[in-house]
Amino acid sequence: MFKENLFKNKTFLVTGASSGIGADVALMLNELGAKIIAVARDEKKLLEQQKKVKNKDNFLIISKDLSLYQELDKWALKLSKDINGFDGAILSAGISLPLGLNAFDYIGVGIKTFNINYFANMQILKGLVDKRSKIKDEASFVLISSAASKKPGKGMSLYGASKAAIDTSIKSLALEFAPKYRINSILPGYVSTPMVQNNSQRSGRDLNAIQQFYPLGIGKVENISPLICFLLSKGSSWITGQNFVIDGGGGISITF
Ligand SMILES: NC(=O)c1ccc[n+]([C@@H]2O[C@H](COP(=O)([O-])OP(=O)(O)OC[C@H]3O[C@@H](n4cnc5c(N)ncnc54)[C@H](OP(=O)(O)O)[C@@H]3O)[C@@H](O)[C@H]2O)c1
Repeated sequence: MFKENLFKNKTFLVTGASSGIGADVALMLNELGAKIIAVARDEKKLLEQQKKVKNKDNFLIISKDLSLYQELDKWALKLSKDINGFDGAILSAGISLPLGLNAFDYIGVGIKTFNINYFANMQILKGLVDKRSKIKDEASFVLISSAASKKPGKGMSLYGASKAAIDTSIKSLALEFAPKYRINSILPGYVSTPMVQNNSQRSGRDLNAIQQFYPLGIGKVENISPLICFLLSKGSSWITGQNFVIDGGGGISITF
């Protein structure tokens, strides 16, 4: 699909690289020649991902809790300097905690959700584009939003808002970053990953019932990675500040 060495000599930061969408795109980028700095909390899962690559020096792992967002700009700046500047980042780390407005700790869960889904991403970007970060010209950033940003289902007010915040902010950041760097968000529909599998289990929602909303079937992680690769590549060099829905024709949001 892509040329073998498309990302040779490129280095990308991937958050949420221990599982689901982040894990898959980290491996795909690595296969296409990129060096990956893979970040998530679960070191064991990150090591499992690292075992899958041919050259471990090209797939470095960092175990870190990104919900502690306050110092993330400094952390990202140091990391960027240490590796001599990134060519971009895929910010996929996120949580989804479906909850109604009358739930006991609605605001507490909202703060937790926004800390990782939104503020962590902004802080990381702040560090990565710092003048001292050695970031490469033409760097590209892809943030993983959600179809729930546009059409949140019942119980998704906090999650949907945290993703809508991403979609709005990247439009302004695209103006700040141009013409040097680009930034876009993608809005996946239901993709089969541990996140949605756990939510479906908790809510007792039947996967077959969800399936009916997706003309092309429920998504797989490998349906998502190629769009991210395209947005990181030169082929998308005139695209910035956009929100891309990728949902198998779903176009409809459900609670999951
Ligand atoms: N699956 C879907 O249907 C779907 C649809 C739309 C959007 N999305 C979005 O896609 C992204 C990836 O989700 P996924 O479906 O691939 O879920 P997933 O398999 O649960 O992956 C979530 C990733 O985020 C990391 N993460 C969560 N909290 C973190 C924290 N505090 N610090 C550092 N890393 C943290 C997890 O790693 P650790 O647990 O190891 O820390 C994991 O690698 C999320 O932003 C999600 O909102 C998913």
